[in-house]
Amino acid sequence: MSEWKKVCLVNDIPQLGSRRVARAIGLDVAVFRNDQDQVFALLDLCPHKGGPLSQGIVFGTSVACPLHNWTIDLEGGCARAPDAGCTQKFSVRVADGAVHLDAIEMATLALDLRAPRAGPGATTGATGDQSFSVQTPHTA
Ligand code: FES
Repeated sequence: MSEWKKVCLVNDIPQLGSRRVARAIGLDVAVFRNDQDQVFALLDLCPHKGGPLSQGIVFGTSVACPLHNWTIDLEGGCARAPDAGCTQKFSVRVADGAVHLDAIEMATLALDLRAPRAGPGATTGATGDQSFSVQTPHTA
């Protein structure tokens, strides 16, 4: 079961770029847009050494990590060979030009992962970047 929450418009995400969605608990989620206007969402944490994938370069259905240039598949969150490792993927729904994330996934997945203590991946606040927030789901 999903609880879709609108986080932004597709046009709020630059083509071949990303935006970050803050969570109440856990690292930000990076929402990517490619040149075909496909939208993907991954935890903003490279599986190599924790680089901020939101600051990477999008091409096709991949993003190149800005730290050591690993290529991460945006559809599954895993590094392309010869590298190995995966980051958390989040479900995305696009409807009427708006991007929706599953609030239940946002509130429950990969909450225990932490950013590196030093280096570019140490903070989630890139200068000049725009973030969105999503509320945790209400339970009855
Ligand atoms: S931290 Fe992403 S490639 Fe090294």
